[in-house]
Amino acid sequence: MQVEQRRLRDDLVIRGAVREDAHAIARILKEGADDGLVSRVDEVDPGAVSRQIEFARAMSNSLYVVAAVPVPEDDEVIGLLLLEGQPLMRLHDVARLTMAVAREHRNKGIGRAMMRYALEVADRSGQIRKIELLTRANNATAVHLYSSLGFAEEGRLRARLRLDDGSYLDDVCMARFKPEPSAG
Ligand SMILES: CC(C)(COP(=O)(O)OP(=O)(O)OC[C@H]1O[C@@H](n2cnc3c(N)ncnc32)[C@H](O)[C@@H]1OP(=O)(O)O)[C@@H](O)C(=O)NCCC(=O)NCCS
Repeated sequence: MQVEQRRLRDDLVIRGAVREDAHAIARILKEGADDGLVSRVDEVDPGAVSRQIEFARAMSNSLYVVAAVPVPEDDEVIGLLLLEGQPLMRLHDVARLTMAVAREHRNKGIGRAMMRYALEVADRSGQIRKIELLTRANNATAVHLYSSLGFAEEGRLRARLRLDDGSYLDDVCMARFKPEPSAG
């Protein structure tokens, strides 16, 4: 789906991702590769990011947003959030969440701002009933953020992620359902 831009502060906008953002997004994903994301640095491909952006714009059950600092003539992308809707019709109202914030901008509320925006758009769209994600069991920041926004743990995938030292880490499955409209 395509979404409108929202200016949250003088130095922060949230907007839909466009293909031209692919390199900036890939840089952030590479930073996140060691800090919580599953891909390795050498597995992040700007071409694949660009295709994901196009796909998300075209699909009614998908959303790709970025957080950016406005600068004259352009803006600087500092965060990304993807809600990737499932193509199968029986799963069409289920989306998988991925997000990352550039290292120097973390812990300043950017992730929460992107999440609030994405949840609001997703809920309003009526196309996404359930949002699922996987996060590393030791990603305390992510687990805290998701829990505070209504995500609950649904289970664990044991010893799933192989680390560089050869040890394995659990992935935590978390999910959030679209809130029921309040009565009255
Ligand atoms: C996870 C991530 C996207 C969060 O973005 P962010 O902009 O740093 O998040 P925010 O600043 O909005 O919120 C972070 C919250 O975690 C809290 N936090 C920070 N460190 C923490 C820790 N060690 N333990 C628990 N909570 C922690 C902060 O206090 C804040 O909570 P609050 O708003 O209640 O005070 C970002 O850290 C990131 O890109 N990490 C690397 C990639 C990644 O892990 N992506 C998620 C994969 S599932």
